[in-house]
Amino acid sequence: MEIPTDRVEKAQRLLAEQNYDLLVLFPSSNMLYLSGFYDEPMERMLFFVLPREGGPVFLVPELYEGQVKEETPFPEVRVWKDSEDPRKLLQRTLAELAPGAAKVLVDDGMWALFLLMLREALPGADFALSSRILNTMRMRKTPGEIRFLEEAGAVADEAFEEVIRLNIEGMTELALASAIEEAMRDRGADKIAFETLVASGPNGALPHHRAGKRRIEYGDAVILDYGCKIRGYCSDITRTIVCKRATKEIQAVHDIVNSAQEKAVQAAGPGVAARTVDRSAREEITKEGYGQRFIHRTGHGIGLEAHEQPYITESNALELQEGMAFSVEPGIYLPGKFGVRIEDIVVVAQTGAERLNRCSHALQVVG
Ligand code: CO
Ligand code: CO
Repeated sequence: MEIPTDRVEKAQRLLAEQNYDLLVLFPSSNMLYLSGFYDEPMERMLFFVLPREGGPVFLVPELYEGQVKEETPFPEVRVWKDSEDPRKLLQRTLAELAPGAAKVLVDDGMWALFLLMLREALPGADFALSSRILNTMRMRKTPGEIRFLEEAGAVADEAFEEVIRLNIEGMTELALASAIEEAMRDRGADKIAFETLVASGPNGALPHHRAGKRRIEYGDAVILDYGCKIRGYCSDITRTIVCKRATKEIQAVHDIVNSAQEKAVQAAGPGVAARTVDRSAREEITKEGYGQRFIHRTGHGIGLEAHEQPYITESNALELQEGMAFSVEPGIYLPGKFGVRIEDIVVVAQTGAERLNRCSHALQVVG
């Protein structure tokens, strides 16, 4: 991935402003964001070390040398061999780049294994989370990042249009999940963003039920919640469909969720507090008597991670700014019966917010 090198410069400015000596990342979306390199976290030490001044240095296992050099614009890659103890390279490098480092930021998700190695290499240093500086940077998307989010959203939309043509009666949730994932890959997804969720009938009342062996029955409401990645950027959409017939109750609950979603999207815009967006959806659902059945926040930020800052909760006073991208996904969950959720990704524009998912909200009767 091509990475603008000014991200590293900005991170260094923020390190200096907040009086940190060093930033150490391990394989994560933060590493991808700053360096262009990503791999799954693993037991071998692979660090991106950014001192307050000077160029960043990669510390990588020998077998990753070629890959890292190809994917990152930063020239300094130091290598350790499987036959060596990586702590020696770590200690040497830290002593050289940031002698006497006292305040260090580490990747939020860094495994304890590596944090302990760093503590051993820098006894007495204070450690804090890298989100202190990287959240601020990552929350507001550039036009280039928004384009990738939009592409990922379009692929998810197209997959929806395709799967609602299937006959879903008798299909297992898992089979429908596979069909959705295949449709996204056929349309250019690099990978899926998270495990596809298909929750049919009573399973729909569990907001994070994934997909299981239950077969979809006539009259079921079915929640589909899925997304893909394009160039590292995620999509995340939810639609609730019905198998062959919608009961009055399902239709009524769907209408309420839809109007709550609409209200929340309309409320969003620059200068608006995140909690105002949450409250707009929540008030609509509460007014209709289902307030106790809306059992989660209204949304979450999205970017290189499917869930990241800003979180759209009842209590978050953060003011939204142009370029912030997040989901708006109210839902109503009726235990033992069904659930309904509708989710679009929106991005804050100069005025208001723009949807990146554009397929219809109408309750689709499928099969
Ligand atoms: Co979702
Ligand atoms: Co979501």
